[in-house]
Amino acid sequence: MSTPVLHLDDPVKRQKVLELVRGLDLTADTQKKIRDVFESEMELGLAKNPPVASSLQMENTFLPELCDGSEEGDYLSLDLGGTNFRVIWLRIKSGAVVSEAVQYYQVPEDVRLGPGVKLFDFLAECIHNFMDGRQLKGQNLPLGFTFSFPMTQQGLDVGILVSWTKSFNCSGVVGEDAVKMLNDAIHRRGDTDVDVIAVLNDTTGTLVQGAFVDRKCAIGLILGTGSNACYIERADRIEKWEGEHKDVKEVVIDVEWGAFGDNGVLDFIKTEYDKEVDRNSLLVGSFTFEKHFGGKYLGEIVRCVLVRLTKEGLLFQSNASEELLQHGAFTTRFVSLIEEDNVNGVDVNTTGALNELKLAFNKEDIEIVKYICWLVSDRAAILVSICTASLLERMDRPETTVAIDGSLFKHHPRLKSFMEKYIAAMAPANKFQLMLAEDGSGKGAGLIAAIASRLKKQQAH
Ligand code: GLC
Repeated sequence: MSTPVLHLDDPVKRQKVLELVRGLDLTADTQKKIRDVFESEMELGLAKNPPVASSLQMENTFLPELCDGSEEGDYLSLDLGGTNFRVIWLRIKSGAVVSEAVQYYQVPEDVRLGPGVKLFDFLAECIHNFMDGRQLKGQNLPLGFTFSFPMTQQGLDVGILVSWTKSFNCSGVVGEDAVKMLNDAIHRRGDTDVDVIAVLNDTTGTLVQGAFVDRKCAIGLILGTGSNACYIERADRIEKWEGEHKDVKEVVIDVEWGAFGDNGVLDFIKTEYDKEVDRNSLLVGSFTFEKHFGGKYLGEIVRCVLVRLTKEGLLFQSNASEELLQHGAFTTRFVSLIEEDNVNGVDVNTTGALNELKLAFNKEDIEIVKYICWLVSDRAAILVSICTASLLERMDRPETTVAIDGSLFKHHPRLKSFMEKYIAAMAPANKFQLMLAEDGSGKGAGLIAAIASRLKKQQAH
């Protein structure tokens, strides 16, 4: 598989386009530099008194252990993080999910951006609605809550929100315990009987679900609206734990790599397009790494490039449609569709997207748009692969399965194969496979609730 190539007959025009996107094409030297910085940020994030603050949170997830196969019972799981909110009812037998019922709820924008109490009231209402519709009313069900935001965990059932990310920015929640806020909302209603017994990040849910399917799984990775990963770390390497958690040998660490470089250490890769995407985002300057490739942003990066090239007279005969000038108009779905054209050597999806954007285009425009989508997708794969390869080398296991969930990974036609190529080159001594852990973040929450209730029962005996 080759690196992105732009086919244009006119060499002068080709040169001008390449000049304007040069920064998106990460050279081997730049890749090496990113990796060095990532590894040093990980160390700083685990250090007790780091000389400078790391942009990586490296958070303890308090996940005590993975499934041992004896988990049983009915559990609810909530999944909040992207634009959809899901309630799931899982039946678990011998540590395996044997049946599940899922319902999706759209979280309205005014709830995503309004007072936190309203958000948790909305979640409690959805739980009630879900249970009511399934004759689960009156049953006491343990609940696992996937809350896919950076948290400081003080236990498996305490998650203090550090900052909002992606499309959420509710007031009064940063610094508060999401579990308490959810429990309070449930009690305020007084008509639903559930116990929130575990809170987790989507990466952790994905790891637990992945490890259930494949024992070699040691990384949970999300490539969805945002991006992040968790991995299994040796407790003795967590310097900031000195003296604590003495009985623990390994722990699942939530890296929170979405924020990698927020402290400036990655400024050398930021192009004018990345800066523009950040400036127009909900939380400017925050979680800037995932803004380079998260599903919420990938299409927007392409849009910014297309607008610039149009202004420079290199696209669409200098005419950007009103549609193209709108933030968010070039969706990540378009990137995946156009990448399909790149795979199949056709133009049908590309012309469809350009028509939807009411653009007048010719053959050269199609070539350029296809090239930009390829380039931006390739950069996405390189960035994720650098971080993944670092984790693989750090864990240094004979073989590791990386469980991956998230809409971008699922729908992009070749991110997986790009990542396989890059990770193999970047961590040549570490055997690995990438595994789609479909719905890992939701199922994993049910499994973690089951593990937590098994442990509770064991402690009670
Ligand atoms: C954001 C969140 C992180 C989550 C990721 C993927 O980066 O901060 O917690 O895992 O998105 O959903």
